[in-house]
Parts: sequence; C-alpha cells; structure tokens
Amino acid sequence: MKINDRLKKIGDLVDDASFCLDVGCDHALLSIYLVKKGKNIRVIASDVALGPVLIAEKNIRREHLEDKIKVALADGLDSYSEGVDTIIISGMGGRNMIGIFKRNLSILKKVKTILLSPNNYQKDVKKFLCKHGFYIEDEEFVKDKKFIYQIIKFSKGKKKYWQKDYFFGPVFLKKKDMLFYEYYLRELKSREVLLELLPKNYRLKRLLIKREIHLIKRELS
Ligand SMILES: C[S@@+](CC[C@H](N)C(=O)[O-])C[C@H]1O[C@@H](n2cnc3c(N)ncnc32)[C@H](O)[C@@H]1O
Repeated sequence: MKINDRLKKIGDLVDDASFCLDVGCDHALLSIYLVKKGKNIRVIASDVALGPVLIAEKNIRREHLEDKIKVALADGLDSYSEGVDTIIISGMGGRNMIGIFKRNLSILKKVKTILLSPNNYQKDVKKFLCKHGFYIEDEEFVKDKKFIYQIIKFSKGKKKYWQKDYFFGPVFLKKKDMLFYEYYLRELKSREVLLELLPKNYRLKRLLIKREIHLIKRELS
C-alpha cells in the first residue's frame, strides 16, 4: 500500500513496541505502515467520520492486519484504551488538535509520546503541550509535493523554552537544515504579503506581523 513521504516520516518517528492511537486515521495508511514495519507496534486507528472508517476497515482486512489494528469510529481521544502510550494526530489544524486534548486532559497524563503534524498554529500546539507535561524531543520538516509540513515529537518531561523556541521550534533551531530556510522564507513572504493587504487601522495585528518579520529575517540572515 502506497504511503506519502509525510506519513512515512511520522511513522519512522514512532518508537518500537509502541501502542498507538492514530486519531483522524482516514484510510489507515499510516496505521498499516506502522504495523508492517515489524517493530511490534499495535494501533487503534480512529476517525470521527464513517466514510474513512469503512475504507480503513477494508484496507486493514486486505492486508490481513485485523489482529494488530483495531478500528474505531470516535471523536478525538474517545477511543483511547488503557495501555496506549503514543498518540498520533496529523493532517488537522492546530486548534482542532488543542481542542481534542482539552476535551480529555486526563489522557495526557497516561501517554509518554505524542506525534503531531498540525497544518497550522504549530506554535500554539507546542506551547499547549509543553504547558501540560511534555517537551519537544524531535522536529522534522518534510516536503511533499509543493508543501512543507512540520512533524513534532513530544515526550513526557519538562524543558525551559523561550518564545523564540515556540515560534521556530527548539529542535528546528538546532538543526537549521535546508528545509528550515525554505520553510521560513515562505513564512516571511506570506507575512510581507499580508502586511501589504492589511488596512492601516489593524494596528495590533500589523505590529505582531512586523515583529514576526523581524524575527524571521534575523534568524535567516
Ligand atoms: C485530512 S485527514 C488526515 C488523515 C491522515 N491523518 C493524514 O495525516 O493524512 C483528517 C482526518 O481527520 C478526521 N478528523 C477530524 N476531526 C476529528 C476528530 N475530532 N476526531 C477524529 N477524527 C477527526 C477527518 O474525518 C479526516 O479523516
């Protein structure tokens, strides 16, 4: 079963022998990839929509993986089962992810790893989870077609971060690879365009964007 580079990269960040909850699994491509890696990984693949769940079940049956992947029709973390140690959520907005965690805060205490690939509001997601007992163990960029995605691996524990760490990502800042420059050059350009378009009376918003432009320029120079 074919899997894109983004999902593959997420899958490769999962620890051996994990018991994962893949929230918003869609067609369960990531779940199937995970258990086929042969690293003793088990998965609950869950989605809030019936259509994806039915296709996920069909794909899992076709691969004869019913004993390793349980499928659930459920909202957010509602399909959590005792023993799950890793939560994976990808391909959703960051605020949606935060909402999912807020509805089930007690589950955050029970898991050791959270792997996320939010489409936006990455800074807010990082702040939220670091406030709730996690630190950022790893961060990866992945380019799939013309988009560049962030993948963030959170682990249980505490670390001190500055605002700049949340904005750029503490591990991204350390690695500063080619995709870091490409990603933040795009972020810079989109803010410059937004600043051009924003009416002058949006003072606070304009000030925030100017600050971010300054921050990005300094980091890229
Ligand atoms: C764009 S797809 C991403 C699929 C896959 N995770 C990926 O990264 O390619 C988003 C999926 O999340 C599901 N979803 C959205 N909100 C959800 C929620 N609160 N709980 C569970 N699934 C949700 C949608 O039904 C959809 O199948």
